[in-house]
Amino acid sequence: MPAVVIVGAQWGDEGKAKIIDLLAERAQYIIRYQGGCNAGHTVVRGGETFKFHLVPSGVLYPGKSCIIGPGTVIYPDVLHEEIQKLKERNISVDRLFISPRAHLTLPYHVELDGRKEELLGEGKIGTTRRGIGPTYEDKVGRIGLRAGDLLLSDDLLLQRLTMIADQKNPILVGAFNMEPLDPRELFTLCEYYRTIMGPYIADTDEILADAVEQDDNILLEGAQGTMLDLDHGTYPFVTSSNPTAGGACTGSGLGPKAISRVIGITKAYTTRVGSGPFPTELFDESGQHLAKVGAEFGTTTGRARRCGWFDAVAMRYSARINGLDGLAITKLDVFDGLEELRLCTAYRNRQTGEVVQQFPSHIEILEHMEPIYESFPAWQGSVSHIRQYEDLPNEAKIYLNRLSELVKTPISIISVGPDREQTIMVEEVLPHNAKSSCLVS
Ligand code: GDP
Ligand code: IMO
Ligand code: MG
Repeated sequence: MPAVVIVGAQWGDEGKAKIIDLLAERAQYIIRYQGGCNAGHTVVRGGETFKFHLVPSGVLYPGKSCIIGPGTVIYPDVLHEEIQKLKERNISVDRLFISPRAHLTLPYHVELDGRKEELLGEGKIGTTRRGIGPTYEDKVGRIGLRAGDLLLSDDLLLQRLTMIADQKNPILVGAFNMEPLDPRELFTLCEYYRTIMGPYIADTDEILADAVEQDDNILLEGAQGTMLDLDHGTYPFVTSSNPTAGGACTGSGLGPKAISRVIGITKAYTTRVGSGPFPTELFDESGQHLAKVGAEFGTTTGRARRCGWFDAVAMRYSARINGLDGLAITKLDVFDGLEELRLCTAYRNRQTGEVVQQFPSHIEILEHMEPIYESFPAWQGSVSHIRQYEDLPNEAKIYLNRLSELVKTPISIISVGPDREQTIMVEEVLPHNAKSSCLVS
């Protein structure tokens, strides 16, 4: 059964949304499985730009079912704004479904995110300040509020909010000098959230079970990226969920046997936004070229993304953690105009001189690593108009072949520009089925 996971293979912003939008043409279901409005997913279609934070990036096609899955955290105000903007642009959200199990980000989570960052000072994570960490903390601490709770009777909802306030207030007031939560005020807020979210809350478990039974094409949309994974990333400079392929199962409710393929999205180079180690980070003219030509500014926060060469050590690790079947390599066009390209093949420990092939488990070790590079000549002219692999310049093919060899994963898709059309399909990722539609809203 064709359920394909689209996972960010680096530190996020790899161009996942562009690939999701592209593949969604053949899918019937698109599911966001983790994260919240920390995600900023950009789709460019026919020169028109769409930015998503919570709504799956497949929503631009009519008739596709878009699910915000149980593993996500939803800030209702951001979701509402996103839905309104889509409606204003005549994009239908009639087939948007929200899992009742998804957790809600509430205003105190957002405030707490900011306060925690301020307390960390120099050591701050550089979060998006969208309340993600505090929402997942409450989920794990079993004092979260879930989307489905909005549909409880008034009595039960108030009871739940009172329990939450009783548990949170000593911490909010005592440790963070915040105003205490008033269950009645929270209840009034939830009444509003009920009106904006209620119509979309549905039994997504059943919807997905039907999809699987009918052999529909399913796309699982990851947010963030492997190196930001809570368990497998550069801890503690990570997000608070599991963007990796395993997270696609827990975050959607699909069992592992339902997953047919895992595609890792990666830029032809590397970027990172926020704090934390980044072995191939560039501070020279090449880095400036990548930032400028690649327009490397965050979709959610507008922060400048740090840029560097492709890190095959991190990507080999990512390929293994996710069980990648194929790579979608984006932003190859950003290399246009450079004279030399580099791939980091291994690390050298600055302190011991040891050559390291494996990605370290601790940032304290990673910080001692310097990249060992292979160098490649770049091409003349632009690749952004190319649509067939054969037409790529030889220099591009040599670079991509070596990249694929180092990561031990074949290349499925190459992206040469932000637009849906600017794509080279090396292989079919999703099969055509009877229900596949080419219609565009
Ligand atoms: P996501 O979070 O992984 O979906 O990625 P973002 O949307 O945050 O950032 C990727 C940015 O790169 C967006 O502005 C995309 O429009 C753009 N993009 C995607 N693929 C390409 C590409 O092949 N070339 C260029 N130049 N831009 C691309
Ligand atoms: P998409 O889905 C890039 C980063 C933040 C910070 C860390 C923790 O667009 O690829 P958080 O707010 O999640 O607690 O922040 O994770 N981060 C992202 N970086 N792309 C994202 O999402 C990100 N979402 C979070 O910058 O370093
Ligand atoms: Mg992004």
